[in-house]
Amino acid sequence: MPSDVHEIDRAVALLQAGELVAFPTETVYGLGADAANPTAVGRIFAAKGRPADHPLIVHLPADGYLDRWAREIPAVAWELAEAFWPGPLTLILKRAPAVSSAITGGQDSVGLRVPAHPLALALLRAYARAGGGVDGMSGIAAPSANRFGRISPTEATHVRDELGDAVGLILDGGRCPVGIESTILDLTPAAGLPPRLLRPGRVTPEQIRMVIGVLPEIVGHPGDDGTPRVSGSLAAHYAPTTPLRLVTPERLTEAIERLRCSGQRCAVLCRNELPDDGAALAVRRLPSDPRGYARTLYAALRDLDHTAADLILVEEIPATPAWAAVADRLRRAAAGAGRNRDVTTQR
Ligand code: TXA
Ligand code: MG
Repeated sequence: MPSDVHEIDRAVALLQAGELVAFPTETVYGLGADAANPTAVGRIFAAKGRPADHPLIVHLPADGYLDRWAREIPAVAWELAEAFWPGPLTLILKRAPAVSSAITGGQDSVGLRVPAHPLALALLRAYARAGGGVDGMSGIAAPSANRFGRISPTEATHVRDELGDAVGLILDGGRCPVGIESTILDLTPAAGLPPRLLRPGRVTPEQIRMVIGVLPEIVGHPGDDGTPRVSGSLAAHYAPTTPLRLVTPERLTEAIERLRCSGQRCAVLCRNELPDDGAALAVRRLPSDPRGYARTLYAALRDLDHTAADLILVEEIPATPAWAAVADRLRRAAAGAGRNRDVTTQR
């Protein structure tokens, strides 16, 4: 059942009481808490099993709230907010003094975005109207609503299956239209240096260049000091519990057959039609355009993870800029897949 206005009221009351509320965004579902309440924020880390040094994104009702959360905001931040908000772009800026270190993982910066999903915006606006937050700093801290390192949820049932009772309320907004997490752009480098793309997403480096005139530097690695600034930047992330391997389109049929001969059950995620998929336990065919593929990727990975397959084979995607964000998620899923398998199946 889609959520209605009464559920927004309930969500606001829960947030004010320091409880967790999961809500849809245009990218993936978020696990929200009042960003100005460190105890509530602590509950996010506990529910996800996430290490405390991984900072959280604060979701804002409108770009007018930017300067309550950030300081020394460069002009390009306003230009990007104007161009892409509400939308799937997170900006990393120097944090305002009042921002709790529970949010920032102890760093001097904070991640901010205005999400484009109507239900997320309705919640954020209602929370601000109700006086949520401290001193007008209304904002909802929300990581993706999955257990740490696992696949982000793109439907309300995914959140329920994975986090269950740990969440006070799950607002149901149907399937998330983007399907992978927001682009993260670090605007803290000194003036004259290009911004740094920490996580690729729907908003591309080229689109950013068209707005600010500079192509971001593509980073996506932990900080030089070893701090895991972006948890999605860990090599292993967004992962199913079943081992996952990427295979070129030419090799896919042969790989399926070889597994069958060795008595292993495999599940397949492909773009092209398979000449013969009889040897696979389950097959999901995803759209052949990058946006359609991204929208359906995580739900398909979850489905295949729930089959009795010993291995998930994923047909490699084109190595072009349009596929960069999807390629990033697949690489990390392959690196993290199969960990804690027994623990998770027992749960
Ligand atoms: O699309 C999204 O961004 C979703 C929806 C719910 O908004 N959120 C999301 O949150 O993906 P999360 O926590 O799963 O991933 C956000 C990443 C984290 O890995 C975190 O390390 C990084 O953003 N991040 C947050 N604040 C940061 C900061 N100050 N500096 C560097 N990275 C930061
Ligand atoms: Mg996440």
